[in-house]
Amino acid sequence: MRKVCIAGNWKMNMTPSEGKAFAASLAESVGDVTGNVSVVVAPPFITIPSVVEQVKNSNIKVAAQNMSDKESGAFTGEVSADMLLDAGVSIVILGHSERRALYKEDDAFINRKVLLALEKGLDVILCVGETLEERENGQLETVLKRQVTEGLKDVSPNDMSRVIIAYEPVWAIGTGKTATGDDANSAHAFIRGVVAEMLNEGVANSVIIQYGGSVKPSNVKSLMAMEHIDGALVGGASLSVENFAPIVRYND
Ligand code: PGA
Repeated sequence: MRKVCIAGNWKMNMTPSEGKAFAASLAESVGDVTGNVSVVVAPPFITIPSVVEQVKNSNIKVAAQNMSDKESGAFTGEVSADMLLDAGVSIVILGHSERRALYKEDDAFINRKVLLALEKGLDVILCVGETLEERENGQLETVLKRQVTEGLKDVSPNDMSRVIIAYEPVWAIGTGKTATGDDANSAHAFIRGVVAEMLNEGVANSVIIQYGGSVKPSNVKSLMAMEHIDGALVGGASLSVENFAPIVRYND
């Protein structure tokens, strides 16, 4: 059975002091979750240290929302993999649709970060997903195939155990519109097929594929009931314990 990962992407929310207080109550509420479910939070860079401190005695892992494709040097404003590791981060979200759309990150650039993160010892959540226009133009599969094959280019079958893929249809992010369980499931199954083609069936069957896009307590159960959905990448609903805790405990 595949593991489940529920991750909260805080985006540009939570100052260090807000994040500290929030992480403390999150640790109290879901810090003891064990077994098949792993819980991840991704604060903004500057909020990471206070969150790491608050969750250190819990099972919650801390992710970053991005990182530099360079190791170190004259890259003003960037944050390196080594800095993240030193701060207690174990996972990095790469290729989020907001980074692709607003900061023009392309697949080759994202792939460089994926390879560097894995080489440095960070786990990766690679986000993929189509826009509404692409879906309506019948390009869903072309877009997903390109984002998966180019984003994961040169990743070894072995390293794939440290990669999670997040399927996040862009039209469902922050809009309140969720893909139906069936739509999401068929996109996940397609992604699994692409991974099988690229690497092998074993890797494809074991890779965790999260769904993201307006996940909330009211829809998580039906999404998680789908065969190919192994978790959630949660934006808006990860910003309150009231919403995030029942998502994490969807199975209770
Ligand atoms: P949302 O964001 O849950 O607010 O739709 C999801 C994401 O962007 O990861």
